Amino acid sequence: MTKEEALYRIKFLSSEIEKHNHNYYILSQPIIGDYEFDMLLEELIRLENEFPEFATKHSPTQRVGGSVTKEFQQVKHIYPMLSLGNTYSEQEIIDFDNRIRKIIEHPFEYVCELKFDGVAIGLSYKNGILEKAVTRGDGIQGDNVTANVKTIRSIPLKLEGDYPAEFEIRGEIFYPHQGFLKLNEKRLLNNEPAFANPRNAASGTLKMQNSAEVAKRPLDCYLYILHGENLPFKTHYENLQAAKKWGFKISENIKLCKSTDEILEFIHEWDKNRTHLSFDIDGIVIKINAATDQELLGFTAKSPRWAISYKYKAEQAATKLNSISYQVGRTGSITPVANLEPVLLAGTTVKRASLHNADIIQNLDVRLGDTVFVEKGGEIIPKIVGVDLCKRSAEYLTVKYIEQCPECGTPLIRKEGEANHYCPNEYDCPPQIKGRVEHFISRKAMNIDSLGEGKIELLFDKGLIKDVSDLYKLQYSDLFGLEKTLPALDGKKERKLSFKEKTVENILKGISESKNVSFERVLFAIGIRYVGETVAKKLATHFKTMEKIIMADFEELISVDEIGDKIAQSLIDFFSFDRNIELIKKLHLSGLQLNLQESDIINLSNKLDEKSFVVSGVFQNHSRDEIKQLIEQHGGKNVSSISKKTDYVLAGENMGPSKLAKAEKLGIPIISESDFEDMIA
Ligand code: IVH
Repeated sequence: MTKEEALYRIKFLSSEIEKHNHNYYILSQPIIGDYEFDMLLEELIRLENEFPEFATKHSPTQRVGGSVTKEFQQVKHIYPMLSLGNTYSEQEIIDFDNRIRKIIEHPFEYVCELKFDGVAIGLSYKNGILEKAVTRGDGIQGDNVTANVKTIRSIPLKLEGDYPAEFEIRGEIFYPHQGFLKLNEKRLLNNEPAFANPRNAASGTLKMQNSAEVAKRPLDCYLYILHGENLPFKTHYENLQAAKKWGFKISENIKLCKSTDEILEFIHEWDKNRTHLSFDIDGIVIKINAATDQELLGFTAKSPRWAISYKYKAEQAATKLNSISYQVGRTGSITPVANLEPVLLAGTTVKRASLHNADIIQNLDVRLGDTVFVEKGGEIIPKIVGVDLCKRSAEYLTVKYIEQCPECGTPLIRKEGEANHYCPNEYDCPPQIKGRVEHFISRKAMNIDSLGEGKIELLFDKGLIKDVSDLYKLQYSDLFGLEKTLPALDGKKERKLSFKEKTVENILKGISESKNVSFERVLFAIGIRYVGETVAKKLATHFKTMEKIIMADFEELISVDEIGDKIAQSLIDFFSFDRNIELIKKLHLSGLQLNLQESDIINLSNKLDEKSFVVSGVFQNHSRDEIKQLIEQHGGKNVSSISKKTDYVLAGENMGPSKLAKAEKLGIPIISESDFEDMIA
């Protein structure tokens, strides 16, 4: 093929593929099948590889992604990305209209639109080519997520027709329901936490570092507003219709309204119909149509005066409470769960709802047999928000909260000030053992992805694991041939697990590789209460070895930044159990990383050799964290409160007067930031 022929074919294929993308993703009217489409794309990829000089940044091949972004670049918005004033009340829509009619005396129109519940995005186009995609951020500047956005098939990389040379179009990136359900199903199978709602899934996906991963997810995008010097029309509605011709996905569900009656009609219609949409909306946006009227009305500090959003209340359904079961979590925490008569709510059948804890049950005064109101909030599991007292019968029994663990029979405890009951049988209560192993192997902990919930259940049932250290004793012969049928639960189908050669090899490989996981993640993986990822990192960086953490007293622990009384006490409690010390020893013998690697330890000098510092106040040249780190890097120690043993008080601005007085009383030298800089210089 000659160069000319290649260029011609590349151009032809690019335009064909984008046409089919448009037909499929925007018009929902594909005219070729998946196979034919893939063939065209494959040919284009091949030709671009052979003739890289003809590959453009708006080629449809860009949509498969591949670039990896470490940190998203911050971009300042040309037009600040404001929010909208919102209301849940129809009266406020009427008030909004009255306010506007006081300023605009001539007849005018509103545009009513759906309020898409996703992530706002600003797309800049230059000469018809997508230049930049930026998230809202703080409204002034946002993240440059162009590489990820290019993978969204309904966003045109190159425009058609008569578009302005430069403009920005804004819209909402969202995760359609069907894709969302599939994604969560997959995540649960992989032992990853499910996204609470499609909005979180969209936002999480958009911030992924590898655009090839984003390309695998079915993000979509409706555009709803244009900004630019040379927009073709003087009304919002006409501009949106023009944008549709250039190739953008613009909602069909837009209505021009002249009165509040018409607006309210639109609001009611969509309150009824929104459950039939394949994506989430959380309200209706009402905008003044004419640009000149918008200019006249202007903006408040946060939002335009020419637009408002009406938000729908969370959907509710009424159904019967049949019984309450109690679930035991990884930490032994008990969650009461309502078993309901199945009811349709926001497009899914709800059979269970969380009742959170004993107080909530008491405050709702819910009784077995009651008709209850269920609501879908931001969480996956719906919640019970009230009881229909008109349907209450005298026979309905009050709920007697359980006193013993439903799994192991141990009497439950409830610590003062805590809402939840706990099963204290940490080491012998089956869900707590399995839960700890599940946490241990999870991605952010030891990342043993060849194991999952079902496999752990099987290993536990066969008596092969009683704690996480048993994982490192597993042999091929222990695993090969094991089988279990996992029942259908929580939307997952019945599955048969059987450990064949490959599975066993993968499990053993995953376990063995986890021995290289860094100390801070091992510390997180052990599952000490309140020691999450960040706390584990702080502890690991500060103490550097597991031994030092075990030996640390309360004072030493709370001297570490962000380690408060609760975490410190939890660590002390954990290590006061011989069984936990035994576990650490076993993990050590199995070869896990229980110290920071030499390369992670930065030792700048020994100038502060064992001197103890109390750092207080705000500093000019360093953050408090940085100062504390410097103290350690020069061999000193941080302590939280002033005592006779304190060597120095390092005082910044706004240091508390009582601390100052105490230091003076005990005669402890009070030094400034610059004194400190001299000490370590
Ligand atoms: S217009 C000045 N139209 O709602 C703001 N926004 O609460 C102009 N949103 O940040 C925005 N659907 O993310 C507009 N049809 C729609 C919308 C919409 C959803 C979001 C958008 C905005 C937020 C404001």
